[in-house]
Amino acid sequence: MALLASTSGFKFGSDQYEFKFTTDDFKRISSLIYKRAGICLPPKKADMVYNRISRRLRVLGLTSFSAYLDHLTSSDSAEWGPFVGSLTTHLTAFFREEYHFATLASHAEKKASQGRVKLWSCAASTGEEPYSMAITMAEQFGTLYPPVDILATDIDPGVLETARRGIYPLERIKSLSDRIVRSYFLRGGGDNKGFVRIRPELQNMITFEPLNLLAPVWTVKMGYDAVFCRNVMIYFDRQTQKQVLQHLQQYLKADGLFFAGHSENLGHVAELFESCGETVYRPRNSNAELSPEAVYGEECYA
Ligand SMILES: C[S@@+](CC[C@H](N)C(=O)[O-])C[C@H]1O[C@@H](n2cnc3c(N)ncnc32)[C@H](O)[C@@H]1O
Repeated sequence: MALLASTSGFKFGSDQYEFKFTTDDFKRISSLIYKRAGICLPPKKADMVYNRISRRLRVLGLTSFSAYLDHLTSSDSAEWGPFVGSLTTHLTAFFREEYHFATLASHAEKKASQGRVKLWSCAASTGEEPYSMAITMAEQFGTLYPPVDILATDIDPGVLETARRGIYPLERIKSLSDRIVRSYFLRGGGDNKGFVRIRPELQNMITFEPLNLLAPVWTVKMGYDAVFCRNVMIYFDRQTQKQVLQHLQQYLKADGLFFAGHSENLGHVAELFESCGETVYRPRNSNAELSPEAVYGEECYA
């Protein structure tokens, strides 16, 4: 096969790497992750894919990408979890895009007069986002037992396990004020020195469950007052975004709020959502027809 260079400079098919990685291997991986998780991997991501999946080859003692892909696609393969986990980005932080939390606080305060407030973080990663929601609720209601239930879901059970444990290196909370740290975290001693643990009262506010946003059926009840779907749609193409947003919209109450990531503008689904703040949206009439659009992003392999 001719050596092709991806736009990142990666040389497909070259012998200079530990494992040979061809354009066909890349296309197969790209297509599998697109179908499984909706994630688009253009050729400029070839070196990232190579590095992350090479780790799996080493762990499994395999010597080629094709052997790995055969193993992955064999029936009932337990490799799907690590495969998806390897190719997804889990970057997150406490109070990331902080401006959202003030909006969430006042919205929840208003909604609490109608009963328990239901919040959902649907790409929760390692938990910093749902815990920031829980801290916001504790602050707003002035108690560790606010009338709030939070659902935290993610496609990757590995990150959800970290979220459920709620233990973080001190470095992860360095941007938080001393008062917030003292109120909502327990400092580790002995072997746990250098780590903090979220207070169990906040953990009890949250249910952690795996959920693939691409799944046609979700095991989630409807009627959320707010949904955080931040920094995950950027990895989807337009068609997948529309499909997921249409599905999520049905889970919001008519007066609920939808929070997107800073670079996730919902202008292309104006039939579904209207803007009411900085990347904050209100659902429109749920039965809206979506306009048809391009099927795949030009560099996605489906
Ligand atoms: C960059 S993190 C965003 C975390 C958090 N929402 C934030 O903004 O800080 C993206 C998360 O989306 C998850 N994810 C990717 N594809 C997904 C899918 N199809 N369904 C559910 N979660 C998905 C990844 O596992 C990852 O934890």
